[in-house]
Amino acid sequence: AWQPDYILRVSETTLYSDCQPRQSVVINGTSPGPLLTFQEGQHYWVRVYNDLPDQNTTVHFHGFSQYASPFNDGTPQASGWPIPPGDFYDYEFQLEYGFYGTYWYHSHVQNQVGTAQGPVIVEQVNKTDCPVEYDEEIVMMISDYYHATDDVIIAGLLNTTVFGWLGEPQSLLVNGNAQGVCNASVLLPGQTCGTGCGNNKQLVKPSTRYRVRIISSTSLSYVGLALEGHNMTVFEVDGTYVEPLPVTSLEMGVGQRYSVLIETMDNPTQSDWYWRLRTMWRPTRVNGSALWSYDPSTSSDPFTRSSIGQEPTPVGLNETVPLPDEVFGWVSGSNPNHCMFLLQPTKPQLTLWILNAQQMVDMQGFRWSINGQLNNSTLPNVPYLIQLYNETEDKRMPNYTTALQNGGYDIGSNTYPAKLGEVLDIVIQNRAGPTSGMVEAHPFHTHGAKYWDMGYGPGNFSYTALNTSRASMKGSPYLRDTSVVYSGPGESYNSSVIDDDGPGGWRLFRIKVSDPGAWLIHCHITAHQIMGMQALFMYGAEDLPAIPDSLLAEYLTYGGGSDSFDSH
Ligand code: C2O
Ligand code: CU
Repeated sequence: AWQPDYILRVSETTLYSDCQPRQSVVINGTSPGPLLTFQEGQHYWVRVYNDLPDQNTTVHFHGFSQYASPFNDGTPQASGWPIPPGDFYDYEFQLEYGFYGTYWYHSHVQNQVGTAQGPVIVEQVNKTDCPVEYDEEIVMMISDYYHATDDVIIAGLLNTTVFGWLGEPQSLLVNGNAQGVCNASVLLPGQTCGTGCGNNKQLVKPSTRYRVRIISSTSLSYVGLALEGHNMTVFEVDGTYVEPLPVTSLEMGVGQRYSVLIETMDNPTQSDWYWRLRTMWRPTRVNGSALWSYDPSTSSDPFTRSSIGQEPTPVGLNETVPLPDEVFGWVSGSNPNHCMFLLQPTKPQLTLWILNAQQMVDMQGFRWSINGQLNNSTLPNVPYLIQLYNETEDKRMPNYTTALQNGGYDIGSNTYPAKLGEVLDIVIQNRAGPTSGMVEAHPFHTHGAKYWDMGYGPGNFSYTALNTSRASMKGSPYLRDTSVVYSGPGESYNSSVIDDDGPGGWRLFRIKVSDPGAWLIHCHITAHQIMGMQALFMYGAEDLPAIPDSLLAEYLTYGGGSDSFDSH
């Protein structure tokens, strides 16, 4: 009989990641949840049980195109219903050949993503394309830990009278661990401090080539990281191989992944070496660490070599970085030969959409808007794809003509619709809030197929700006699924300029529309998404793939609240 390839159970538990207890939504009892390994070109069935007492959930496979199963993308209000408490759902999908690399999965409901998450490896069947050779693999999942619970965080964000910002995280975690100090004075009744928490410690062997798959699965933090005493060579970016490039540090926005090659020392002069992590592009810094240890038997404390605050800082992790090195120093011009820019459309074929992302204040408090749309109120209660699949619903098919007259946005369906075969240039234009004047860096993620990351720059987008930008990929863009839209030149947070056309930055995604479905594009800072920083793209509304009969009833069944912001 058929069996699911994986069974995931979403439940609530108390985490003690940095020793402070926190009631959290987790997968299979832990955070991160289990590593899921898939193979390119294969078909999979992942069954997800919702064991939460009173919240919906979903699982989204971040970076998977779901090209044959857009109904299984795990996005409430877009691809399908969430899973109500006590129920389960079968996510089935086919992976393309040529699709491999480092990914992750997470709940797409409310704030659950912060802890209901886990790593994914899609293995390459034929390894001849791999630009480096390695002996072993290590997964490092980087997350940020808030002592406030999801309920408290959401209540603050959506409070219409007194806005409550969640602030910076208390700890940065590697694989769910940090060396923290429990504050006993803030424990809730019945809670006790955890014991034995400490930095993630990875045993390594000398003279070994490690492929380290680094996954940034934070809720908010943009993280810089480096390993003292060791160099690393980047060769994979969100599932795309790039020409190997040595770096001394990495910077990662929420949702991005890199594989780096690290060769361990032949004769290490000490047993333990520190990874240091530091948040960037925020008003204050949060630090984190992890350890690589060559010989655990020489260490009396299994988790630390230094006390908190005394850890060494690896070369390359500078206190301030004027601009991210993402393109200038490394990935630019470093494409692997096999994944060339397949798509060089001439201008007339291109459709240009500019999405102005801006912070707004209205009667509901702080909101993020995209082109003036406050999207948490415009996304439908009945998931848009359910409307299209369910013949009994009042389908709001997109109107392409009026959408084009409106910068791509179709008011009738509340989507940005496109037909298969179209080539879209989607600019994320970062704008200062009209009243706050605030500009921040935003990691934008596209669901569905990846985009060609064409370049970015400060100020307003234009094709001239693209062609003259130092960060233009020119002839060698690469495929990604998450990229950061920066806030302008330099690492800055608050701008004093209160001007709609003030400082900001842009980034250009080029997409050849090939996969029908209702796909979200959103900022992966969870709080920003909850505050509306998302838009719905509808590709190929007339060409949706059929849902297998075996799944149809399950897919159309409504069992819980549909709104991803409504927990009950
Ligand atoms: Cu990592 Cu909308 O997802
Ligand atoms: Cu954001």
